[in-house]
Amino acid sequence: MKAVLIPGDGIGREIAQSVRTISDVLDTGIQWQEFEAGAEYAAANGELIAPGTLDAIEDCGWALKGPTATPIGKGFRSINVQLRQRFHTYANLRPVRTLPGVATRFDQVDLVIVRENTEDLYKGIEYMLDEDTANGVKLITRAACERISRFAFDYARANGRKKVTCVHKANIMKLTDGLFLSTFREVAKDYPDIAADDCIIDALCMKLVQRPEQFDTLVAPNLYGDIISDLCAGLVGGLGFAPSANIGDKTRIYEAVHGSAPDIAGQNKANPSAILMAFAMMLNDLGMADKAARLNGAILELLTEGKTLTADVGGTATTTEFTAALADKLR
Ligand code: NAI
Repeated sequence: MKAVLIPGDGIGREIAQSVRTISDVLDTGIQWQEFEAGAEYAAANGELIAPGTLDAIEDCGWALKGPTATPIGKGFRSINVQLRQRFHTYANLRPVRTLPGVATRFDQVDLVIVRENTEDLYKGIEYMLDEDTANGVKLITRAACERISRFAFDYARANGRKKVTCVHKANIMKLTDGLFLSTFREVAKDYPDIAADDCIIDALCMKLVQRPEQFDTLVAPNLYGDIISDLCAGLVGGLGFAPSANIGDKTRIYEAVHGSAPDIAGQNKANPSAILMAFAMMLNDLGMADKAARLNGAILELLTEGKTLTADVGGTATTTEFTAALADKLR
């Protein structure tokens, strides 16, 4: 089967190579179609995404992407936002779990964040009212609220989860977040087997850094979902271990949560775990749950042994060495 691979910017090329190596070792049978996109491509070619990329994603429905930067102030729209809107990948799924061998302040985190991915302040409706006043529109529709709430409850049910918490600020944004919350409550009635509650975003942030184990599945509008995803990644050891999936009805795009890490790009220092964990999510959805479990298991084993760790988690291994050690485990 075919899948699109977009290495992207900065460390993207290094971690995409890890995916190719591990995909071969696992004998997934995936034929990668590689396409260029990002700020580095734009600097040489004047456009952010190489011709044919979007059609290829449309054709096969599966893509794995590395981080991409957007040149600021040059009229380019973020690749991520473009992809989400074009392919209607309305749900951004980000599992966050405590990992053995990665020292953090918490030891029982097991959370899933379901972020609405298409609207809210990210819709891109911004304009100047006059030269000193900018206005941005927070657009929330009942249809998108219902779709993401159902996605969260269906995911919870399918994955043995017990509770879904709606994240909002409906006490202040009574119409927009109010619609998100009231729609969530309506949808919850169809899932009597899953507990449902809600939490105001600011209180949630405090509770997450005090006792994250009290949460299970969180469903949030776009902006809050974006922020709490990074917060939660921090609870389990940072961006090196945070995978995500952008899910639509016809298209799925998997990626690491982190960016292009320009400070370490080209130095063979990047931790490829997050993109490999995103690849494991992809394998799972492709019906290769056994290979996904082997991959996740091998990453956990490497972390637990602690002999081959990248610099972000206190080791000295290069990206290539980490990937080779992982490949050895999988063989
Ligand atoms: P960043 O995530 O690239 O880097 C933050 C810090 O984490 C840096 O110190 C970096 O070295 C470290 N880091 C990130 N990933 C790592 C990895 N796999 N292994 C080891 N260390 C890692 O965030 P930053 O600097 O804010 O963004 C850099 C660029 O990436 C920006 O242009 C931004 O727009 C873009 N970006 C793209 C994303 C995407 O395409 N999904 C997501 C986030 C940022």
